[in-house]
Amino acid sequence: MLALDSGALLFKDEKLPQDQREQLTVTAQGITAAYSKMSFAAVGLARQDLAAGLPFLLAVQKKSNFPWLSANLLNRTERKTWFKPHTLITAGGMRIAIIGLTGQGPDSLLTEKDNAVIAPWEEVLPKEIAQLRSRAEMIILLSSFPAAINRKIAETHPEIHLILQGGSNQGNIPPERVNNTLITQVEGQGKSVGILEVHWSAQSKRWEDPGSENLLADKKNEMDRLGWQINRYRRQGEPEQAFKNQPEVLEVYNDMLARQRLLEEEIVRLTATQNAREASRKRLSSYRNQFEAMRKDLPDNPAVRAIVDATTSEVNRIGKAAVKARISGITGQPQEGPTGNYAGSTACTSCHAPQFAKWRGTQHATAYDTLEAKGQQFNVQCLPCHITGPAAQTGQEMLALAHDLRQVGCESCHGPGRAHALQPAAAKAGQPTMATCQRCHSGEHDDRFNFSEALSRLRCGAD
Ligand code: HEC
Ligand code: HEC
Ligand code: HEC
Ligand code: HEC
Repeated sequence: MLALDSGALLFKDEKLPQDQREQLTVTAQGITAAYSKMSFAAVGLARQDLAAGLPFLLAVQKKSNFPWLSANLLNRTERKTWFKPHTLITAGGMRIAIIGLTGQGPDSLLTEKDNAVIAPWEEVLPKEIAQLRSRAEMIILLSSFPAAINRKIAETHPEIHLILQGGSNQGNIPPERVNNTLITQVEGQGKSVGILEVHWSAQSKRWEDPGSENLLADKKNEMDRLGWQINRYRRQGEPEQAFKNQPEVLEVYNDMLARQRLLEEEIVRLTATQNAREASRKRLSSYRNQFEAMRKDLPDNPAVRAIVDATTSEVNRIGKAAVKARISGITGQPQEGPTGNYAGSTACTSCHAPQFAKWRGTQHATAYDTLEAKGQQFNVQCLPCHITGPAAQTGQEMLALAHDLRQVGCESCHGPGRAHALQPAAAKAGQPTMATCQRCHSGEHDDRFNFSEALSRLRCGAD
């Protein structure tokens, strides 16, 4: 068993909002500790992992009991790698080389002080492969380059047997073979694991090719259909004679004969390779792939659970301390009433009592309480969807939000309502669209969300 990850593990984005930095870096350290507990053999270094800066990641590396791999994050002046470019591991009785590649993008990710560049793959891969080819029976690449580039890498370097792509690529992608390289990917956010069971022949170092078998069957089918058509023409007599006065028909007939000869040759060739393959089948490598969803009902590993719990409560503590500091530092008072264009849900009661009563019965009205029950009400990562979101933009605003704007209030869906509450006829309240809901009911947090079904359950306007 070899646990690998292509990176983008620590942060979702390449830039951290300054007022969320502390909570996000504590989360990143928790993730690293959990991965260390889970005995990961290697993790690729993606651009997002550099979001808190190169020095932060170098410090994280010291605390990880697995290597962070990047063959192309180089010291700008000396062109030496900042992290291990590869690692060699013995698993299943064979030597496996694992190389890491960091996706390229805007240079602004790294600061002048970092003295670092992300080099093109063309510059570093040939050297890596030359070094590893004789020392390993299998070469794996952890790449956060986009899919199109990984294909190009596979076409250029058939010595790489497996590419696990990650970074900002989306969704589960079953293995696809390009030349002699399998490329596969697991969806983000730890929602699934990919289980790739490999039977590797160190002798041939080649994947078997189920494709040519199908191809032979296709060609034989086409040959049968063609033979049947040709016979129909022949039933009229010898075609050269029978269609003497119909040159277009004769031309179609002759084209069919030519195609038949071509097919015959192809079938002979494919049968020969097929037979050779049967003989050497035992020498070829095969795989089975499966994606396993990390469902909520799967049991937790107690040691990892403890790390997650310690991390989330530390994150909440940081948010709480920030609220305290803000109250004593700036105003000396917690924020009392809603600000700006927002009125707060209570302000709507006087004129829309039925809607208010209905809303009180929905989960939206207790969304903030849900976070409180989890001890996460000060986690800036959770708040945007569990409060009257648009009323607060920055982390500080979210943490300082007035009580009446906590929960997913009326104005989450109907927009800021202060003006409307004062002059209902002059300033109309907004109506939500599907996009309004999807800001929170996004794939990441609610992948089964169905707009019309959800709307029918909501029935805000109906009586
Ligand atoms: C002072 C009374 C009053 C208050 C307070 C008030 N509304 Fe209204 N609201 C009205 C009236 C009256 C209408 C009907 C206006 C119209 O049809 O021209 C209305 C209509 C609406 C509509 C339907 C709009 C449409 O075009 O169909 C929505 C949604 C709405 N209000 C939401 C809110 C929200 C949210 C709040 C609290 C932030 C709120 N209202 C506060 C009086 C009020
Ligand atoms: C500001 C974020 C936000 C917006 C906007 C939002 N929701 Fe929700 N919704 C939530 C949260 C958070 C919960 C879960 C609350 C809890 O359990 O504490 C939820 C729960 C629900 C539920 C009940 C959950 C269930 O599966 O039983 C329904 C139904 C729902 N939302 C429908 C909608 C619809 C329809 C819209 C758009 C018209 C919408 N929501 C807009 C955040 C939002
Ligand atoms: C992008 C919006 C979004 C963010 C960010 C978000 N949530 Fe939610 N959350 C939702 C929605 C939508 C639902 C309701 C959908 C459902 O019940 O599956 C929900 C439901 C929940 C629930 C109740 C259902 C359950 O899964 O048990 C809990 C608990 C919860 N969220 C906790 C959190 C915590 C903790 C965080 C931060 C780490 C967070 N949420 C961040 C949108 C979000
Ligand atoms: C999760 C989103 C959401 C929230 C929260 C929400 N509404 Fe609505 N509201 C809707 C939708 C969607 C409609 C359109 C009617 C429908 O299909 O239910 C609507 C319709 C209305 C209407 C128009 C009624 C009519 O007859 O056309 C009013 C008034 C209203 N809402 C007021 C409120 C008030 C007041 C609150 C808070 C107490 C609130 N809404 C909270 C989504 C929401």
